[in-house]
Amino acid sequence: LQPKYLQGKKILITAGPTFERIDAVRGITNSSSGKMGFAIAKAAIEAGAEVILVAGPTPLPTPLGARRVNVSSSQEMLGAVNAEVPRVDIFVSVAAVADYYVLNPSEQKIKKDAHILTLELAPNPDILANVAGLAEPPFCVGFAAESENLLEYGEQKRRRKKLPLLVANQVQDAMGAEDNEVFLLDDHGQHKLNRAPKLDIARAILQHTAKLYREYHNP
Ligand code: PMT
Repeated sequence: LQPKYLQGKKILITAGPTFERIDAVRGITNSSSGKMGFAIAKAAIEAGAEVILVAGPTPLPTPLGARRVNVSSSQEMLGAVNAEVPRVDIFVSVAAVADYYVLNPSEQKIKKDAHILTLELAPNPDILANVAGLAEPPFCVGFAAESENLLEYGEQKRRRKKLPLLVANQVQDAMGAEDNEVFLLDDHGQHKLNRAPKLDIARAILQHTAKLYREYHNP
């Protein structure tokens, strides 16, 4: 591959957690730091791509050259992705999207009392599955963070969401960490990337993505 092997390509990346509001001061979120998604953005820029980075709440600095769209809830992330997706070649969904949102969040701070508080949660739409199901989808790369049965659950997710490529990682290895160890799952099988800094892992994921992208477009 040439050093600028993604020159002329537009890549949309989601990164970080989402935040689902409970009331004026509280919410539900998860432990994604955004590091893996931001590393993908940086590696894509190095490779010559035009990068749109849809980021959930994270204090990480924007990689130089990326266009960043900040979002908070998964509904906002869905809106931002849908607005950009018609013009992109590749979609890399790294965000740890909350699976549920709080029905009827309170405008005001909920006052504490002695009663048990019950939250009603409703499932969020699956942003990646929606994109992959479009009539003319971009080349879609999914991620899966699993705490057990990594390869089995990862491959199930890849097939269910109809993805040409899925990156499977262990929650314990990946979330919040500086390094990562991943498996690339595609129609040819599985391929391990040994533990390395997230930027190195990101470069290898994108090189593999570029090869598969070419196979799909010039079969
Ligand atoms: O941010 P870091 O601290 O660096 O951690 C990186 C990471 C662990 C968050 C990342 O490497 C990772 O694995 N991201 C996916 C997390 C996950 O568990 O996703 P999932 O199994 O819930 O979803 C599978 C895929 O569908 C993902 O590509 C996800 O972005 C996407 N999805 C999921 C739910 C939803 N409502 N919409 C989605 O688009």
